[in-house]
Amino acid sequence: MILVTGGAGFIGANFTLDWLAATGEPVVNLDKLTYSGNLGNLAPIRGDARHAFVRGDIGDRAVVAELLARHRPRAVLNFAAETHVDRSIHGPDAFVRTNVLGTFELLEAVRAHWTALPGGERDAFRFLHVSTDEVYGTLGPDDPPFSETTAFAPNSPYSASKASSDHFVRAYRHTYGLPTVTTNCSNNYGPRQFPEKLVPLMIANALAGKPLPVYGDGQQVRDWLYVSDHCAAIRAVLERGRPGETYNVGGNAEMKNLDVVHELCAVLARERPGRDYASLVTFVKDRPGHDRRYAIDARKIERELGWRPTETFATGLAKTVRWYLDNGAWLSAIQTREYQSWISLQYETTA
Ligand code: NAD
Ligand code: TYD
Repeated sequence: MILVTGGAGFIGANFTLDWLAATGEPVVNLDKLTYSGNLGNLAPIRGDARHAFVRGDIGDRAVVAELLARHRPRAVLNFAAETHVDRSIHGPDAFVRTNVLGTFELLEAVRAHWTALPGGERDAFRFLHVSTDEVYGTLGPDDPPFSETTAFAPNSPYSASKASSDHFVRAYRHTYGLPTVTTNCSNNYGPRQFPEKLVPLMIANALAGKPLPVYGDGQQVRDWLYVSDHCAAIRAVLERGRPGETYNVGGNAEMKNLDVVHELCAVLARERPGRDYASLVTFVKDRPGHDRRYAIDARKIERELGWRPTETFATGLAKTVRWYLDNGAWLSAIQTREYQSWISLQYETTA
């Protein structure tokens, strides 16, 4: 079996669902259930004996040690994190606590467990750390995309905290020999993403007839990857990735934010006609320190592991919009008081 952390969040939940469908191998799922963690994301496997959910913090070494001793997973996959750049600007503390200190505590628990394993199990064991392309900083319009050898230059409290966790993972490989693999992935989108990130926020606002808040001039570029393609990349890295290596994962789909929003409006106009969604686009104050461009060179994972994305932005976006239209109850259940107060903090003060 495997131990997944953060498996009630967007990518962790999609990974858990895809993993059980693809492999059937049991999963223990450790998640703190912060504002972005949601057991509703795991509804399709409720009652499935192959999945055990445990509410807890990756920074609680005793809880992790107990889970490792009890379940003896062959791998630990760390998805758990604070993940939203804008929230990290308003309040970086939680990012340092979970992403830096939490990952450190998790690594310590895993190292103690791994060191005591018998030889065969120790060799086969993997610690897979899920990270982001944002650790590399920002690109100019003509710069080559980020490769695995691009120097880290994080610009936000979020990316600085993720870069720090990546460095600790690297150090545990180098110093203690822990069999780690790290993935640095571009922006994901797809079902079950919390509606604070660009794509689901725009879908939620458009359906409610609210303004679609584009930061600055909307010309910032991100490289978009459909979440199931990311999940497949993680499975490939877990099974065939070389210990100590990092793998960049991206969608070969660089898009300007404004183009993403307009494409989204076009899909909505087809799927749910009757409103001029594009007229809701509103330019708002830019994000402080806003990274201008991210782009991923994913040739290493393609060459070494044979992974490449299967969805284009158009096919992935159509699936994503369909999912949100079909899951209105999921969306309204997470538009809680905490969500409303985030939206007013972020958009009523910056508009
Ligand atoms: P998310 O915010 O949707 O989910 C994070 C999950 O982690 C939540 O379920 C939350 O409850 C849990 N969590 C937070 N702190 C915890 C703690 N201390 N202990 C245990 N659980 C905790 O985020 P996501 O988009 O699913 O991102 C998952 C991982 O993928 C993160 O490490 C993120 O940095 C990375 N990543 C995300 C993207 C993206 O576009 N979303 C891209 C590249 C990498
Ligand atoms: P986001 O989904 O927060 O991901 P990240 O900042 O990690 O790339 O934002 C994606 C892009 O969209 C980013 O350039 C910021 C921009 N953006 C907006 O223009 N308006 C919004 O309301 C949000 C949430 C993001």
